[in-house]
Amino acid sequence: MNKNLPASHHSKEKNGVKAMFDAIAPRYDLLNHILSLGIDRGWRKLLALRLARIQPLKVIDVATGTADLALIVAKNTNAVVTGVDISQGMITIGKAKVTDAGLSERITLIEADSASLPFEDNYFDAATVAFGVRNFENTVEGLTDMCRVIRPGGLISVLEFSSPRGLMGVLARFYMRRIMPLIGGIISGHPSAYTYLPETALAFPEGEDFAALLREAGFNNISITPLTFGIATLYEGHKPAVK
Ligand SMILES: C[S@@+](CC[C@H](N)C(=O)[O-])C[C@H]1O[C@@H](n2cnc3c(N)ncnc32)[C@H](O)[C@@H]1O
Repeated sequence: MNKNLPASHHSKEKNGVKAMFDAIAPRYDLLNHILSLGIDRGWRKLLALRLARIQPLKVIDVATGTADLALIVAKNTNAVVTGVDISQGMITIGKAKVTDAGLSERITLIEADSASLPFEDNYFDAATVAFGVRNFENTVEGLTDMCRVIRPGGLISVLEFSSPRGLMGVLARFYMRRIMPLIGGIISGHPSAYTYLPETALAFPEGEDFAALLREAGFNNISITPLTFGIATLYEGHKPAVK
């Protein structure tokens, strides 16, 4: 990487991801709920309910997009939530939703990159990311910075797609490879985005492979919870407490 570039410089790949989400932002929520048949809401809710058990006061939601997870976390905990995303288009829609929900006092959305979060060490009680970690330019780099900004003993919760085994897997792959690009392409007007999104989901490490990346980023005590036949998985891990 060119060291003379300003810190805010985005690489070509990151610019591509940012531009893609800016482009699909207006139809993102609608498509999410159609393509997942509404199941995604239950997955986010489960993450938030489990997070509520540690009674966090400050939560960072990385790759917050249109703030769906930030909203659910704010509604199910007493925490102040900071959502960060590289796409201004997604954030703009998220801000309108936060205002509509009357939660502007408790949720702040800012433009920032997962690899260089603009917060001091140990600031948050917990970090969350839903369906965003596979879009990071460098997975471990993003997870490592999430580890840095949460306090020792703090929690990370990651929701990501995974591949079910057996017949469900065959059906899920068919759905993601054939149906999603078709419906997503027509409704969003950006077929390439809805080819990229399922393909990255299918290619992304899951289960123990993803747990290994969490460990590499500094987390321990990791739990893996498959959801809905394993279509998605909730990963939770802890930043080691200082001895
Ligand atoms: C599939 S959306 C998920 C949004 C939201 N978390 C949800 O559950 O609906 C992925 C988001 O990740 C964001 N993103 C991708 N790379 C990022 C990065 N390096 N740092 C922060 N956000 C990023 C994209 O702009 C996009 O809004």
